[in-house]
Amino acid sequence: MTERPRLVDRYASFLPVTASTPRLSLGEGFTPLVSLRRFGASLGLRNLYAKVEGMNPTGSFKDRGMVVAVARALESGASAVICASTGNTSASAAAYAAAAGIECAVIVPRGQVAAGKLVQALIAGARVVPIDGNFDQALTIVRALAEQDDHPVAVVNSINPDRLEGQKTAAFEVCDDLGRAPDIVALPVGNAGNITAYWAGFREYRAAGRVRERPRLWGFQAAGAAPIVLGRPVERPDTVATAIRIGNPASWSRAVAARDESGGRMEAVSDEEILGAYRDLARLEGVFCEPSSAAGVAGIRRAARAGELDADALVVCVLTGNGLKDPETAGRSATGVLEAEATVGSVSVALGW
Ligand code: F0G
Repeated sequence: MTERPRLVDRYASFLPVTASTPRLSLGEGFTPLVSLRRFGASLGLRNLYAKVEGMNPTGSFKDRGMVVAVARALESGASAVICASTGNTSASAAAYAAAAGIECAVIVPRGQVAAGKLVQALIAGARVVPIDGNFDQALTIVRALAEQDDHPVAVVNSINPDRLEGQKTAAFEVCDDLGRAPDIVALPVGNAGNITAYWAGFREYRAAGRVRERPRLWGFQAAGAAPIVLGRPVERPDTVATAIRIGNPASWSRAVAARDESGGRMEAVSDEEILGAYRDLARLEGVFCEPSSAAGVAGIRRAARAGELDADALVVCVLTGNGLKDPETAGRSATGVLEAEATVGSVSVALGW
């Protein structure tokens, strides 16, 4: 059998893996960079792309980091992994722990995780503990548990450096697909691990001589959960974009460094802007991401409309997760189905054809 190339092998020289690191893969990475022709044209942008991370095995970018983190946890003798999560990290951790044959526990904010993500963790056999608290409180509990626990458990949140090492590979793929680094990369910011990983990836690729340029990183937080933009923690973060409903990001200072070193920006986008971008991406491009993922697109749309973007700028929006994870928000954002009898006439009337 010819095996599909593995992400970890492709970029091994940039990753903390050796010949003795357990080989683990669910087919992560190699996600498409899709040209957003119609959406871009609506904004006067000629080179707008989406990095569709929802194509990863568990439907989000987390798999890039999780494959490295779980392999390294195995290598170090861990028999369990644990994480706090707004949903995607738990889905990814559960899947890779299942494949590795180790236990997985996840702590999530009760009632604030999209339905698809929760069932992903459950079906893979993770033990799921919903708490009456937010993500920040869940992460505090996880850190404390990992310290007090006497059996070897690895924390696989993005405070685990192996996670961010793996997530750098998305930046490498973008450069490899374009043959250069973009001018601007726009992405949603929650716990701020991903923007940190992208910046490390772009820097390292340039240092290795693979590309000549470095992009500006534009991070977008939801207006109700925008601690970095406000410059202070948000005690009760609130947004329809539940994946980034985070009030005190773990990688706060590194996200600020990524913004400043790259000459980028960090802004808030409203739930309305997020849902508008989310819907229009699906309608104009057939690209269905989850609401949080549309934060970067919403930010780019606002900047383009304000005349802040050159028509020829090479812009990549990172769509971090798959739209199917959150069918409830999709259902609420779409118009209803048409009712008809089982006859040609009735269907014809319903369609107005
Ligand atoms: N987009 C999606 C779909 C996410 O799930 C997350 C984070 C982000 C963006 C933000 O990335 O935290 O690295 O800044 N989700 C985490 C989780 C918190 O638990 O699944 P970040």
